[in-house]
Amino acid sequence: MDQPSDRNRHPCPALKHLRVATAELHERLERRMDALARLSEDTSRADLVRRYAALHIPAETALGPTLDPVADLDFESRRRGQHWRDHDAVETPAFPSPESRAEALGMLYVLEGSTLGGRVILRELAGRGVDTGSLAFLDPYGKQAGDRWRGFIAVLDREIGDDAVRLEQAGKGARRAFRHAEAILCGGPV
Ligand code: HEM
Repeated sequence: MDQPSDRNRHPCPALKHLRVATAELHERLERRMDALARLSEDTSRADLVRRYAALHIPAETALGPTLDPVADLDFESRRRGQHWRDHDAVETPAFPSPESRAEALGMLYVLEGSTLGGRVILRELAGRGVDTGSLAFLDPYGKQAGDRWRGFIAVLDREIGDDAVRLEQAGKGARRAFRHAEAILCGGPV
């Protein structure tokens, strides 16, 4: 029987495909973002928090119609908008619009995966004595993080399987989402 830990050691075809398709983009984003330095200092932290909101809030609007109906995903509980309730209503660039369910799941892979890195960043900042009060969105699931990730991967596997067309669509979605995230988090004015 397929236990959750097996899913990590032996990633399903979709997760394998997404990792390969986006490894370079994640590495570039991580390098350009310089998150630890920017989140350590008050002014640059406020700017980056605003950029995260400009990434996540429009993503929920763009992905909701396609992902709300997906069984077992519970997209509603994966929304992070509530973390920015006090966020100034600024004109934010639209998140890319998915053309298929597989493409939307590829996009969600990027947003859900960012919670894994987010935990690492948060731990490191707390270790440096940085005030992380405004950064809860980096680790939205806390102790549930592992379960939420495995739950997402189970849906990804069920919806995409090893279907070549869907793998391609998911990969395209993940690359679009990473490029968009890079433009918002590392780019010019938002
Ligand atoms: C400088 C900022 C970032 C750092 C230092 C970072 C670091 C990491 C680390 C250490 C992991 C692996 C965590 C684990 O396996 O427990 C990870 C996973 C991931 N991160 Fe990032 N990350 C950063 C920003 C982002 C952003 C902004 C996004 C997307 C918007 C993102 C998307 C992902 C994805 C999709 C994964 C999952 C990879 C997989 O397991 O397939 N990361 N990140």
